Amino acid sequence: MRRLSSICAMRKQAQAWRDSGLSIALVPTMGALHAGHAALMRRARRLADRVVVSVFVNPIQFGPREDLAQYPRTAKRDAALCRDMGVDAIFFPSVADMYAADHSVFVEETALSRTLCGRTRSGHFRGVCTVVLKLFNIVQPHFAVFGQKDAQQVAVVRRMARDLNCPVRILVVPTVRESDGLALSSRNARLTPAERAVAPALWRALQAARRLCRSKRCSPPAVRKEMEAVLRAYGRTIAIEYIEMAEPRTLRPVQTVGRGTLIALAARIGTVRLIDNVVV
Ligand code: PAF
Repeated sequence: MRRLSSICAMRKQAQAWRDSGLSIALVPTMGALHAGHAALMRRARRLADRVVVSVFVNPIQFGPREDLAQYPRTAKRDAALCRDMGVDAIFFPSVADMYAADHSVFVEETALSRTLCGRTRSGHFRGVCTVVLKLFNIVQPHFAVFGQKDAQQVAVVRRMARDLNCPVRILVVPTVRESDGLALSSRNARLTPAERAVAPALWRALQAARRLCRSKRCSPPAVRKEMEAVLRAYGRTIAIEYIEMAEPRTLRPVQTVGRGTLIALAARIGTVRLIDNVVV
C-alpha cells in the first residue's frame, strides 16, 4: 500500500493508473476509521482496479463551535485497517497543502444543503462540496463511495457531481450498525459509557417510525410523534435537533410518509451530535 501525503504524488499515481487503463475508486474519509469505512472499502474493492482512501479532517466543514479539535485522529490504526482491506493508496494531505493561506474559492450547493443538518450547520456542506471536488480533481476517480448514514451528504454530493459534470459515479453503501443498532460513527468514541448506553434509542425511534409507516401511509406529524415518544422515554438525555421526512434525492419534504421516504434524525447526547436515518 502506498502512503501519499503530497497532492502532486497522489495526482501522478492516479494518472499512471489511468494511463495503464486501470479504474480507480475513492473512499473519502476524515479518518478514525471503523467497520463502516471498511464496508465502503470492500465495495470500492469490488468496483475498481485500484482503491484510494483519503484521510483528511477537513477544517472548513466544521463550524466555529463544532468539534474540530476533539475530532478523533487515529492515523496508525487507520493505515493498518486500510492495509488489511487491500487498499492501494492512502492519501493524507496536510491542511496547509489543501488550503493555501489565501484560498478563496469554494463550492456551494444552494438547495439541498439548506435543510436538515444545513439548518444548524451553516457552511458545513460548502466545506464538504469544496473538499470532495478537490479530492475528485486530485484522485481522478471513476467511482466514489459514501455511506448511507450521511444521507444528506450523499444527496448534496450527487447534485454537485451532476451540476458540475464530474466524471465520477457516486455509490452508496448501507449503514453499518453495532449489535444494539447504533450506527457506526467516528463520533461514537466521544460518548461516555452512560451516553453510549442510551444512544441506540435513535435507531429504536427510526425502527418505530418504519413499523408505523409499513402498515399504513402516515402523516409526518404522526411519525414525528411516534419517534419523539421513543426518544422522550430517555428524559432530557437526548436533545432532538430534527426529525424530518423527505424524498431522498431532492430532500423535499413529503406530505405522506410511504415507501421510499427518507426519515432522518439528528440529536445531541451530551456534547456529541449524532445523525441516523432509514428509508421506508
Ligand atoms: O463523510 C465524511 O467523512 C466527510 O464529510 C467527507 C466526505 C470525507 C468530506 O470531508
